Amino acid sequence: MQVQGLSVAAGGQVIQQGLEFDVRRGEVLVIVGPSGCGKSTLLRHLAGLERPAAGHVRFDGQDLHSGAEAPRAALRRRFGIMFQAGALWSSMTLGENLMLPLRLFTTLDAAESERRSRFKLALVGLDGGFDLLPSQLSGGMRKRAALARSLALDPELLMLDEPGSGLDPLNAARLDELVLHLRHYLGTTVVMVTHEIASVFAVADRALYLDPQERRMTAIGPPQELLEHGPAAVRAFFGRTPAA
Ligand SMILES: Nc1ncnc2c1ncn2[C@@H]1O[C@H](COP(=O)(O)OP(=O)(O)OP(=O)(O)O)[C@@H](O)[C@H]1O
Ligand SMILES: [Mg+2]
Repeated sequence: MQVQGLSVAAGGQVIQQGLEFDVRRGEVLVIVGPSGCGKSTLLRHLAGLERPAAGHVRFDGQDLHSGAEAPRAALRRRFGIMFQAGALWSSMTLGENLMLPLRLFTTLDAAESERRSRFKLALVGLDGGFDLLPSQLSGGMRKRAALARSLALDPELLMLDEPGSGLDPLNAARLDELVLHLRHYLGTTVVMVTHEIASVFAVADRALYLDPQERRMTAIGPPQELLEHGPAAVRAFFGRTPAA
């Protein structure tokens, strides 16, 4: 994915501008920065869900925001997204949650949809969860189920917004491990938003820092490098807690 001269707005105000970076095939790129700096907004732009105020996002050479709608929708279907709220459909079982995208966007028959959905649930350690409702799960299990649903259509690029939020440190760390495991076994490229420093050091090949005052990205690189050699605000952000 190539991001060029991207400006993103929320509520009519530009909150980040001049964003310029690539997402490399197979990497885990983590977007970091203080609350309100625009991480979720940027992720929605990368997912093609919002129009940029300026600039371009291209995936596999195709512009996500210009041209006819049908090919752009096809492009978006190559992404898996887990939103910050991570909501599953509460009146549907986990199995139904995972099978719905397959029913809507593929021609797979019911038996094959079920087989694939069970496989995705097994990948996140919820083998027995097919017939459970979200309300029957713990917070950590619900996050893993939402992650499984984002994998339903075998995305090439997985976008995760604060997947560990609301979890205790142990379960958050387990979720980080799971993300790395999925990347390893499925070859999925991952763009993940977090403000947990431990999580950044655990999963990121590279981190991108969005500065809320300057309204631009002020650093991109391996977390250890940013901790040691980044601009002052970035070093301070990465140094808040000891690197795991
Ligand atoms: N729909 C909206 N209307 C008005 N302002 C918005 C809207 N969405 C986001 N904003 C504002 O844009 C800024 C960036 O929001 P965003 O949710 O992208 O931040 P974030 O970095 O994801 O924060 P957090 O770490 O708290 O999730 C915030 O100041 C927010 O108040
Ligand atoms: Mg956010």
